[in-house]
Amino acid sequence: MILKDEFALITGASLGIGREMAKELARRQINTLLVALDGPELKETEKFISEHYETRVDSLAADLTDPESAQRIYDWCKSNNYKVSILINNAGFGEGGAFEAIPLERYFKMIDLNNKAYIALIHLFLPEMKKRKHGHIMNTSSMEATLPLPYKAVYTGTKNFIYAYSLALNEEIRRFGVKISILCPGPVLTNEGGLKRIQSQGNKAKLILMMPDVVARVAIRNMLGGMLIINPGKMNWWVTKVAKLIPTRLKMRIMERIFRVYTKA
Ligand SMILES: NC(=O)c1ccc[n+]([C@@H]2O[C@H](COP(=O)([O-])OP(=O)(O)OC[C@H]3O[C@@H](n4cnc5c(N)ncnc54)[C@H](OP(=O)(O)O)[C@@H]3O)[C@@H](O)[C@H]2O)c1
Repeated sequence: MILKDEFALITGASLGIGREMAKELARRQINTLLVALDGPELKETEKFISEHYETRVDSLAADLTDPESAQRIYDWCKSNNYKVSILINNAGFGEGGAFEAIPLERYFKMIDLNNKAYIALIHLFLPEMKKRKHGHIMNTSSMEATLPLPYKAVYTGTKNFIYAYSLALNEEIRRFGVKISILCPGPVLTNEGGLKRIQSQGNKAKLILMMPDVVARVAIRNMLGGMLIINPGKMNWWVTKVAKLIPTRLKMRIMERIFRVYTKA
């Protein structure tokens, strides 16, 4: 139960799945704090929420690959007396291609955003949630966390890290009333890069492709219900289950064949 004076903080809230999750929370009358890179989309999302829903909303531009950002976000919440009871770590990016074709700095940024920023924000916000004996943390991972993708090896690794980290941390904290959810979407139609990768897969990808608003609805409903692993979409759920039954070596050979096209996308 989220109280009237409490807030949900969502990273990557200016676009894609994050923006839709912020709207879904506001629709459920939960106050929202939006974090993303500086740009018109962040303010537009804030304006949309303040015009369409009777909740409080505020935003902060921050580059989460900057190691000081998490502390800045936390201090901003403190100075405004924003009580964060829901933390949604969602900002992230991935890139496809032959491993060595992508510059090392890009991989390091990916790890900074997809992993380090998640840990830093949880490290700051968790103690107060534990003290209040309630809270939700949702970490956006991916279907790729348990189904590794050749030609997106580092991204897959970051999502697998978040998956394992969240499972382990959940056991540490659930008796304090704080629950973790791991969101594992398959392909979602959001940004340009993703669209190109989805198109390179042809009709296969369309079978499991989802829209961000649908993913957001499923994610928020299940997070508030305390679900640990959220696999949006029936088809994605089945693919994940069936993949677990296939021997690893064979599965990875098949995956390599399917995703070799990423080297051309
Ligand atoms: N789309 C998919 O197919 C898919 C599938 C599985 C998992 N996921 C995961 O779902 C999450 C959201 O993906 P999406 O497709 O919705 O992404 P998206 O449409 O590209 O939006 C990314 C969001 O993150 C923000 N962001 C990017 N870099 C940032 C940084 N350095 N600091 C702060 N904010 C930053 C962006 O802000 P700006 O406004 O500045 O761009 C934007 O709000 C990611 O973790 C992604 O890995 C996506």
